[in-house]
Amino acid sequence: MPLVRGTEFLQAARKGGYAVGAFNTNNLEWTQAILKGAEEAQAPVLIQTSMGAAKYMGGYQVCYDIVKDLIDSMKITVPVALHLDHGAYEDALECIEIGYTSVMFDGSHLPFEENIEKAKDVVAKAHAKGVSVECEVGTIGGEEDGIVGRGELAPIDECVKMAAIGIDFLACGIGNIHGVYPENWAGLDFDHLKAITDAVGSDLPLVLHGGSGIPVEQVKRAISLGISKVNVNTECQQVFAAATRKYIEAGKDLEGKGFDPRKLLKPGTDAVTELVKERIEWFGTTGKAK
Ligand code: 13P
Repeated sequence: MPLVRGTEFLQAARKGGYAVGAFNTNNLEWTQAILKGAEEAQAPVLIQTSMGAAKYMGGYQVCYDIVKDLIDSMKITVPVALHLDHGAYEDALECIEIGYTSVMFDGSHLPFEENIEKAKDVVAKAHAKGVSVECEVGTIGGEEDGIVGRGELAPIDECVKMAAIGIDFLACGIGNIHGVYPENWAGLDFDHLKAITDAVGSDLPLVLHGGSGIPVEQVKRAISLGISKVNVNTECQQVFAAATRKYIEAGKDLEGKGFDPRKLLKPGTDAVTELVKERIEWFGTTGKAK
């Protein structure tokens, strides 16, 4: 199946009361792991690259080629969108040209007027090519790829104004943060999420960033209140690292040809697949590709 833009499956998720997982990739193995997990779960999925991960992988064209070619060679049948995560304006435009089917323009660190003006331009250029657009108002806390946010609650009036320019999905701070949640984290602010949903209407899929480490009950409640896309990055990194550590600490790399990268990276890659399937189950998306 060719790459899809994601708008249709996120609209279906919004209406059906479930959420599609958006998993960050970092390399060839992770891309295979995410695709395998989604295929086994028969779930639609978004594979996303941060700007830093794309640079690490050799550029956006490389990311696009890897995802597109693996969909063919792995005979993936579920709908897959390739999404730019937290893109600067120029990066969003580059990805639209290259063939990404979805882009996030993150202007949340800019003055709101500038954020919305640039967002309008990205929407016009993306929609002309059938690419969907996610925008953000109010920063998400924590740090991702050097972008540090304070974890504000998204101002409702800004959510409404951003929704009105025709974006496809809205990322809005509701107390969520990227990375590991601190011990004293207050949890998601459901009253604020409900206020956003009431203000922007029931047609706009909302995005929960910082999906790692949120207790499952909170994730499910957020989905019931309008979250249709959940971003997961840190937990994939954690399970990959833990499985690789276990392999090495057990001395497996020293047995036979256990140092072969194809063997060395396998436990971590398999762990990412298992996590992807488990999160897809949490989000209510298992079997939703059919
Ligand atoms: P985590 O790293 O906390 O899972 O957040 C991922 C994310 O929101 C990517 O934009």
